[in-house]
Amino acid sequence: MRIFLTGATGYIGSAVLDVLLRGSHEVAAIVRDPEKAERLKLRGVTPVVADLAGPSRYVAAAEASDCIIHTAFEPTKRGAEVDRAAVEALLGAAIKHSAKGHSTSLIYTSGVWVLGNTAGAADEDAMLYPPPLVAWRPDVEKLVLDAGRGRTLRTAVIRPGIVYGGARGIVGDLLKQAANSLVRVVGDGRNRWPCVYDRDLADLYLRVATRTEASGIFHATDEADERVADIVEAIARNAKTPADIRNVPLEEARAKMGPVADALAMNQIVRSRRAHAIGWAPTLHSVAGNVARLFEEFRTAREAA
Ligand SMILES: NC(=O)c1ccc[n+]([C@@H]2O[C@H](COP(=O)([O-])OP(=O)(O)OC[C@H]3O[C@@H](n4cnc5c(N)ncnc54)[C@H](OP(=O)(O)O)[C@@H]3O)[C@@H](O)[C@H]2O)c1
Repeated sequence: MRIFLTGATGYIGSAVLDVLLRGSHEVAAIVRDPEKAERLKLRGVTPVVADLAGPSRYVAAAEASDCIIHTAFEPTKRGAEVDRAAVEALLGAAIKHSAKGHSTSLIYTSGVWVLGNTAGAADEDAMLYPPPLVAWRPDVEKLVLDAGRGRTLRTAVIRPGIVYGGARGIVGDLLKQAANSLVRVVGDGRNRWPCVYDRDLADLYLRVATRTEASGIFHATDEADERVADIVEAIARNAKTPADIRNVPLEEARAKMGPVADALAMNQIVRSRRAHAIGWAPTLHSVAGNVARLFEEFRTAREAA
């Protein structure tokens, strides 16, 4: 399958790229850094040197693809605006490709944070109560899902939990802090985080990309419902030199980190019913229970970087 991927150098996108290449798919990927583009080229990827904010440079490549997977996100003040414009451009490209009679799909990356604090377990049908950080995102999800209704274009929204594995992301930051002897937690840590292993998440993208019946919303969580305190204690205990833990009051965390602090303090229990229905079966089911392995992956990834 010819696939157009955004965010191939990112945490989620690089895991997705690995499974796509293992599956011998033909991948074109938008990259903004020419050096990173060269590295992707060596792996058999066709790089499209472009910025997400300049769709005219990449829509032609997207239009030539059977599947578009959007995982890029610009973490700046204009991030939401750039994301929406990129999604509009990518949907336009996908619609043109499908109008030529090709089976075409588009996968958008959202996140479980759009659910807000959950009352009990939330599956893909749950109401959304997004915190301010991601309040813009449900509209983009809707744009994607509406484009897949009543047309030949198939669209899907994947909502990953907090990703673990390797050296990046929120759990990667906790591992790094533990290696530096002090781990900070927003609030008392009694809240639960929905999490997902990066390779399991990538497997879900592959499944959704290749299954013609897969459309709509898919949660990607390991369903361990772990309390943040349990995750952090396991990480702190398993560092080479056991690390201290500091609970940072929400107000203080908000002053330092901004609205991400509120997202980290949310209590969420999230089920991935629709992902299981298409045969997705995550291999890892806990951060705390796999901490030794995660430290190993963390060190290997940092040495390779
Ligand atoms: N990580 C998680 O735990 C998690 C959980 C749920 C949802 N999500 C969502 O998943 C998406 C990706 O997250 P991530 O953790 O993979 O992020 P990430 O590691 O920061 O990767 C972001 C990717 O986007 C690319 N990018 C950023 N701005 C760009 C621009 N202007 N033009 C072209 N490419 C650009 C980056 O390229 P460079 O290499 O050039 O920087 C990188 O490849 C986000 O929407 C995030 O909200 C993440």
